[in-house]
Amino acid sequence: MADTVHIVGISGSLRQQSLNTALLHAASELLPDGATLEIVHLGEIPPYDQDLLDAQGFPAPVQRLRATVAAADAVLIATPEYNYSISGVLKNAIDWVSRPGPNKELPFDEKPLGIMGASPGLYGTVRAQMQLRQMAVYLNMFPINKPEVMVTQAAQKYSAGRLTDEATRDFVRQHVAALVAWTIRLRQKENR
Ligand code: FNR
Repeated sequence: MADTVHIVGISGSLRQQSLNTALLHAASELLPDGATLEIVHLGEIPPYDQDLLDAQGFPAPVQRLRATVAAADAVLIATPEYNYSISGVLKNAIDWVSRPGPNKELPFDEKPLGIMGASPGLYGTVRAQMQLRQMAVYLNMFPINKPEVMVTQAAQKYSAGRLTDEATRDFVRQHVAALVAWTIRLRQKENR
């Protein structure tokens, strides 16, 4: 169906009780009709190593991640903020997926991108999110600008590992709706 949008959700945290993974789970509960969200876990992605890539190609978990991203219509990243930046786990995965494949495939190229983030502090990952936007330039991804989802003081907004704050859930709902609308708009432009 032309209006079906399949999104791959990437959490930059490996923690079971991750605020950011829970943010993706909230997004999956709040999707508009016709959209699906597949959440991937980065736990098996090895550290980026150019020598390994040159000698053996992409490791199997990286191949799976690349294929999942390539097959998706859009990408939704939930990023933690570590030392005013994105997590090493997320950066490492992006680095692997950003490299051209054997036939010059670039899984992230021209993908619509949604960005969210949650932290216990007062700034809600704003600095990490800005860095992701900068990375999107090199990756040639098309991020949506508004509404932003920067979940501040998360302790007050989650309960038993679930995003429960209604105002925040509404931002997440609007964010995924905007990502889906943006994806359909870009697709229509492509088909013109
Ligand atoms: C943090 N944290 C953090 N928070 C923040 O708002 N700005 C920051 O720069 C940092 N820096 C930072 C560095 C490191 C190494 C760790 C482990 C943590 C706190 C961070 O936001 C918090 O641990 C979140 O809960 C991480 O996200 P997940 O794992 O809950 O998704």
